[in-house]
Amino acid sequence: MFKQLATICIRRSRDVNAKPFDCGAGSVESFGKELLTRVTIVEFTFTPTMFTLESDRLLLRDWMRADWKEAQLYASDPAVCKHMIWGPNTERETKDFIDTAIDIAHVKPRRGYELALIFKEDQRLIGGCGMQILGQNGTTAMIGYVLNREYWNRGIMTEAANMLLEFGFGKLNLHRMYATCDTENKASERIMQKLGMRQEGHFVKDTFIKEHWRDSYLYAILEEEWLNKRLQEK
Ligand SMILES: CC(C)(COP(=O)(O)OP(=O)(O)OC[C@H]1O[C@@H](n2cnc3c(N)ncnc32)[C@H](O)[C@@H]1OP(=O)(O)O)[C@@H](O)C(=O)NCCC(=O)NCCS
Repeated sequence: MFKQLATICIRRSRDVNAKPFDCGAGSVESFGKELLTRVTIVEFTFTPTMFTLESDRLLLRDWMRADWKEAQLYASDPAVCKHMIWGPNTERETKDFIDTAIDIAHVKPRRGYELALIFKEDQRLIGGCGMQILGQNGTTAMIGYVLNREYWNRGIMTEAANMLLEFGFGKLNLHRMYATCDTENKASERIMQKLGMRQEGHFVKDTFIKEHWRDSYLYAILEEEWLNKRLQEK
């Protein structure tokens, strides 16, 4: 099942300055020198079994170590991190996050999908979203997301999160997907509503954010609700 979407990306470098498809240090290391030489000669970037999801405007793909600078642009932004338990990040923290994302991508069977978000129009890495499969049977998943402030309110994260739902229900046959947010994080709550999720919970002072205990909402959607929503949208 995973193999259907785990594509081998062989792409010609488009721009020497902005190279979101370049191999990160990790993937080059794991590949060895022989291939690296071959890659250099034919001017292709090559990442083995890179997981990707694609929509009209967006590409979601596995993280690479070389991504840290673009990730740091938003991960160090206090406005972006206002409702997050993490951040603003130091460079080290962002690099550690990417290392962890790369590590969990290699766990088999795969249960964690931390993905970098590329805006295809300008080829910039502008955020990240993730899905963690939970429970013994792996039928439930939690999703999360973060976006560079320059790109807010253009429907980008709703589009990205919809891809996670498509993948989770459509390919992994999940039963339930959910997300949580700070009750004051109206943009995040609105995404959950646009995804067709229902509010299932209001937790009181359950999350410690920026030196305060904060309330959070939990929104969820079942596979049958997702299928109904898709039918209605057609
Ligand atoms: C939350 C976040 C990912 C949203 O991304 P985005 O691409 O701007 O989201 P979308 O454009 O798809 O949808 C945002 C919706 O929230 C609405 N919205 C934005 N700010 C709002 C506010 N202050 N009050 C009410 N609604 C708001 C938008 O109008 C839009 O709804 P609409 O399409 O009905 O008009 C982005 O704001 C972000 O990265 N925030 C910081 C990190 C974060 O909070 N992550 C979530 C943790 S739970």
